[in-house]
Amino acid sequence: MDADHSLTAAEAEGDERAVEAALRPRSLDEVVGQRRVRDQLGLVLEAARLRERAPDHVLLSGPPGLGKTTLAMIIAHEMGVPLRLTSGPAITHAGDLAAILSGLNEGDVLFIDEIHRMSRPAEEMLYMAMEDFRVDVVIGKGPGATAIPLEIPPFTLVGATTRAGLLPGPLRDRFGFTAQLEFYEAADLETIVGRSSRLLGVELTSAGGTEIASRSRGTPRIANRLLRRVRDYAQVRASGVVTHEVAERALDLYEVDQLGLDRLDRGVIDVLCRRFGGGPVGVSTLAVAVGEERETVEEVAEPFLVRIGFLARTPRGRIATPAAWAHLGLAPPAGADLGLFDVE
Ligand SMILES: Nc1ncnc2c1ncn2[C@@H]1O[C@H](COP(=O)(O)OP(=O)(O)O)[C@@H](O)[C@H]1O
Ligand SMILES: [Mg+2]
Repeated sequence: MDADHSLTAAEAEGDERAVEAALRPRSLDEVVGQRRVRDQLGLVLEAARLRERAPDHVLLSGPPGLGKTTLAMIIAHEMGVPLRLTSGPAITHAGDLAAILSGLNEGDVLFIDEIHRMSRPAEEMLYMAMEDFRVDVVIGKGPGATAIPLEIPPFTLVGATTRAGLLPGPLRDRFGFTAQLEFYEAADLETIVGRSSRLLGVELTSAGGTEIASRSRGTPRIANRLLRRVRDYAQVRASGVVTHEVAERALDLYEVDQLGLDRLDRGVIDVLCRRFGGGPVGVSTLAVAVGEERETVEEVAEPFLVRIGFLARTPRGRIATPAAWAHLGLAPPAGADLGLFDVE
């Protein structure tokens, strides 16, 4: 197994990508949950099919592991066209983008993952390509430079971003449809875990699925990952069947608790409450106290702790909420700063 807290990381790493590919829904019908997005997107695609045109450009936004890449692939699949895949960080020069665009065929779906990380000049080239299906390729430098217009066949851009707020307005405005993915309900995660167990050939009881779903942080990627680890446990330490008890024992062993908190998350609230009286304390101090990099605390642990209402980021520092104290089985000391007067 990989390093400690990667079990509940929302990003996929290394080998996991291959396993994920096997678990991805292939059509809109197979997508579990995200009802609103599914209905809206279904309509956009259906209308495009009727008109025999490439669908409008689509922006998929939301936290990691909720199905952005899956939906991009589904869009191409539903339209019966190839998917060309690239990512923002891979496009460092406008020329990189020009090369990709000029290689497109009519109706192709171009998927740009992490589109908020594209370089500025490439972004500007993309505006024009999205709107006019044309780009200006600049040849040469300085006063002698010339811009050669290049026609691009009508295509559909699908952009994915975890940070829609970082996209410049002009880029955001050029998408005809924006899908904002939400964290999943427990019932949907149960369905996903059930589906994955069938695809992986894992025998899973319904209570076993419920247990895994409830510790998955609303995130399909994490649900699938926990399922695989629980399967290991079931095969090695039990009869192979994932029952409620097996799931519980396995996840306890991997230190993923009832709410989906892992060791790092618990370490953060533990230090915050026990050592700093619930805060406020600066994130750097907090990081040193749990023996982690500041970025790890800020980007890996905090977003989930904030989302479940255990931690508040205030202008004076991080504070633990009453729910966090309760989760540790502690009562906040009299006079603890619970951030009640912060309006951030
Ligand atoms: N709605 C869904 N139904 C079933 N499985 C899903 C769904 N959304 C995501 N998944 C699963 O979660 C994993 C991660 O999804 P992915 O599309 O890669 O997320 P993102 O690109 O947003 O990080 C995939 O392997 C896929 O099997
Ligand atoms: Mg992705």
